[in-house]
Amino acid sequence: MGKVYVFDHPLIQHKLTYIRNKETGTKEFRELIDEVASLMAFEITRDLPLKDVEVETPVGIARSKMIAGKKLGLVPILRAGLGMVDGILKLIPAAKVGHVGLYRDPETLKPVEYYVKLPKDIEERELIVIDPMLATGGSAVEAIHALKKRGANHIKLMCLVAAPEGVEAVQKAHSDVDIYLAAMDDKLNDKGYIIPGLGDAGDRLFGTK
Ligand code: URA
Repeated sequence: MGKVYVFDHPLIQHKLTYIRNKETGTKEFRELIDEVASLMAFEITRDLPLKDVEVETPVGIARSKMIAGKKLGLVPILRAGLGMVDGILKLIPAAKVGHVGLYRDPETLKPVEYYVKLPKDIEERELIVIDPMLATGGSAVEAIHALKKRGANHIKLMCLVAAPEGVEAVQKAHSDVDIYLAAMDDKLNDKGYIIPGLGDAGDRLFGTK
């Protein structure tokens, strides 16, 4: 069973309160999502393996550390996932970025791929799938499936806010995927919104309605 981590860093929690506030406008919302994404990137990379290296300083040789192991890849789910990419890239600038776009089939109500563009070497990368809202979990489950069927084998899921239903769906479908959150909320309403949540993340990020 994949683990669930809720990042309780005070800065993340403080900024999330402003993100949730319905009075927060598009510009500030976007900036806050960007900042929280950076802070979450800091937390999610905490267990990256290190290797020992030597580096010549102006006055001697230092035994120092560098990140070892798999290279990283970010995979935002279109469109709201895009809002978190730049914040993560500020800390992990060498990460490659793929994209997954899904639409909901009006008859089956299931998410269907309409766009998938990934780095060539995804099987050698540790991938972080990004979507601010983990609601029913349908999109995240399908996006992870899209990556796995193309060879990905190390996947993490990063979301801002989740409903228990979404977490359960991902855990059931992908027991190897750990989930990283800023908050676990109460439930979904009958329109699929996370309660209390923050509303429609895509609309608030891009100023649409
Ligand atoms: N997507 C959103 O943007 N918000 C929700 O509450 C649920 C899904």
